[in-house]
Amino acid sequence: YLCDTLSVVVIGASGDLAKKKTYPSLFALFRSSYLPEHVQIVGYARSQKTDKDFRATLRDYLAAKCDDDEVIDAFLKKCFYRSGGYDDETAIEKVAMEMAGMEQVSGHEVANRLFYFAIPPSLFTKVAGALKAAATNHNGWSRFIVEKPFGSDLESFETLHESLSDMLEEKETYRIDHYIGKEAVQNLLVMRFANSIFEPLWNRNHIASVVISFKEDFGTKGRGGYFDKSGIIRDVMQNHLMQVLTMFAMEAPARQSGDYIRNEKVKVLQAIPPIRIEDCITGQYISDDEGIEQAYIDDDGVPDDSKTPTFAALVMYINNPRWDGVPFIMRAGKALNERKSEVRIQFKRAPGSSLLFPDTGNGSTLSRNELVMRLQPNEAVYMKMNIKSPGLAGDPVMSELDLSYKTRFPDKFSDLPDAYTRLMLQVLRGDSSAFVRDDELREAWKIFTPLLHAIDDGKIEPIKYKAFSRGPAEFDEMAERHGYVYSG
Ligand code: BG6
Repeated sequence: YLCDTLSVVVIGASGDLAKKKTYPSLFALFRSSYLPEHVQIVGYARSQKTDKDFRATLRDYLAAKCDDDEVIDAFLKKCFYRSGGYDDETAIEKVAMEMAGMEQVSGHEVANRLFYFAIPPSLFTKVAGALKAAATNHNGWSRFIVEKPFGSDLESFETLHESLSDMLEEKETYRIDHYIGKEAVQNLLVMRFANSIFEPLWNRNHIASVVISFKEDFGTKGRGGYFDKSGIIRDVMQNHLMQVLTMFAMEAPARQSGDYIRNEKVKVLQAIPPIRIEDCITGQYISDDEGIEQAYIDDDGVPDDSKTPTFAALVMYINNPRWDGVPFIMRAGKALNERKSEVRIQFKRAPGSSLLFPDTGNGSTLSRNELVMRLQPNEAVYMKMNIKSPGLAGDPVMSELDLSYKTRFPDKFSDLPDAYTRLMLQVLRGDSSAFVRDDELREAWKIFTPLLHAIDDGKIEPIKYKAFSRGPAEFDEMAERHGYVYSG
């Protein structure tokens, strides 16, 4: 166990996020014995419910992960539910007193408290204020996990940050971005810095372009009301994909923990100028031909004239000695032809290859080497290489050196920990290296804010694309213009 007595308070416990992510992750930690014997998990939200009702709701979500009823029962015994307003200090004080009572039973002097904010950011400050006043005056640490969105542009970020930092210290604030907790994103660190073959190639001398893609094969599915206020750039690019980009591009940190990694990430962000409007295209999906996916504007809560992008592609440059001139192309979209996230590094043409391997007239030219890190699904790393085609003819043919997790780790593959589980464990360990620091967010907002304002002001018209298609065809042209070469 990482501590003797632990109280977890999930604020917004009856919401979707808590049920789908927070509780299942706590359950996964419980199953793997990472939670102490003396743990209590108090769900807090406005709706009235008994412990029994609440446990019954949770059971369905946990049963999806585990078929051992005894383990589920043992976990649910640790779960309680209390209702109250989010700024209701008296109700929170009552919960704190009850918690203290349960903590005392353990007989340990020190009890730690973890507060999980599964609530909209507009409530963060109120809740933090009420908790600070009523629930953190105990002997042990208090840590606060805060969900996105943390602001919607630079200004709103600063306002929220200022009011929240009056209540919470930076070192006790864990801003979660679940992409950092993904197995394949963590692997970026190992791939890059534990292998000697990549470092000499990992720069502008050898890399022609980097494409970071996020594709989902479903639409907003009833989340349109929420999504319409953010759009795809705020939803996944400014946070999740920027985290992938910084881990890909940063210099080697001196250590894996503490602030070492975050310091390096911030330096990358500081070297990226704001994205220019002309370097971005956006799109919005319409229904597919069969009408399986309705048009975005027909989703609940989306206004008929919404111009919110459900697809975006943009280019940014990192102005530092390692990356000067290398386009980082980002693409993200909902309701596309497949679900896949990856980082694709395209290397420069092999020098001198054009005479050695001329176009043989069958339409194929020598393809570029690519290193692809597939983040999901089916985590994999593969390298696209030219080899001789077998037989009497000697044309180079593209082949793959393939390291897929599924074949390399058949036993572990189906049971990889969820990103939230990994991150929650890090909070218990007091390791904030995988959480987003205030300056990281500030820098990321600086890069995106002018573009977001232009989109909000209707200066970029989203191109309509059919659901389940590859998205706007203009993307290919844009990627080519910025140096990405499609294989012949
Ligand atoms: C969330 C976004 O943060 O990330 C969703 O709000 C998106 O719109 C999700 O679907 C993607 O996460 P994952 O782990 O399924 O790739």
